[in-house]
Amino acid sequence: MNASKPKVYATRHLPEKARQELITACEAEIWEHDYPPPYQELVSRIHDKDGLLCLLTDRIDAALMDAAPRLKVISQCAVGYDNIDVSAATRRGIRVGNTPGVLTDATADFAFTLLLAAARRVSEGVDYVRSGKWQTWGLTLLLGQDISGATLGIIGMGRIGQAVAKRARGFDMRVLYYDIQPQPAAEAELGLIYCDFEALLRQADFISLHVNLTEQTRDLISDRAFSLMKSSAILVNTSRGPVVDSQALYRALKEGRIAAAGLDVTDPEPLPPGHPLLELPNLIVVPHIASATVTTRTRMALMAVQNLIAGVTGQPLPFPVNSIHS
Ligand code: DGY
Repeated sequence: MNASKPKVYATRHLPEKARQELITACEAEIWEHDYPPPYQELVSRIHDKDGLLCLLTDRIDAALMDAAPRLKVISQCAVGYDNIDVSAATRRGIRVGNTPGVLTDATADFAFTLLLAAARRVSEGVDYVRSGKWQTWGLTLLLGQDISGATLGIIGMGRIGQAVAKRARGFDMRVLYYDIQPQPAAEAELGLIYCDFEALLRQADFISLHVNLTEQTRDLISDRAFSLMKSSAILVNTSRGPVVDSQALYRALKEGRIAAAGLDVTDPEPLPPGHPLLELPNLIVVPHIASATVTTRTRMALMAVQNLIAGVTGQPLPFPVNSIHS
């Protein structure tokens, strides 16, 4: 009977299996659009809800929580949760959950996809063919960079960083890494070399970012960072857009301070049409799709629903971000 079910709000339509689980357990209101609900819309919808299932595109701040006096759980359908004020939630006794682990391989595969595509100039090649410029085979046409035997610098050696390092071994790459916390077990298992941040930037042929967005990592890749990189370096970002200073990236790519970049995430996100970065032939940019496989996104949604249901029924979350004592 609907009346006895907890009331929840989901800020986007979900894969069918997850939707079924959600509507079986909860009285669910779902924002059925391909874009996020405007903030004020969300505030007006949340006032009588016990649970919220949200995405990384929703700003979940203290004011929104104050508009939802019954809210017990915020379930993020993503591993990153920099869009949520977790301290504000904890202070209010609201549980916060996320979806770690299930997207590690898909994201690492995609970081490698961008690395390979940027190194071998795939999008320039596609544009070249589509625009009718392809007349003959050319000895010096669209020359890229070797991956095999090159040095990869991974910044952030968590789950996804480690999965990228595993893939790099298959390409006979030398792998350097930087993390605020050295990871001796991963070093031993994957043959990684720990480096300080600047030494990594100086030595790497490819740099792949796998850090959370925090005040410490915002603009981590700045003009100074680009000035230390090799002019042949390729930057890959599948973490969060603001980890890279977009204006500094534009200057670095435009002036040839680095060779190329592959971005799954941007700042701002989405990049508006006509943004200067989109003019650059040595930049590949895609719309935050690193975890976008059918299986991975279904698993993420199922985990988010599991967290949501646990939270609205007063249970500890299976995949918690904060700890709340009941
Ligand atoms: C995440 O989960 O944080 C990714 O950015 C989207 O899959």
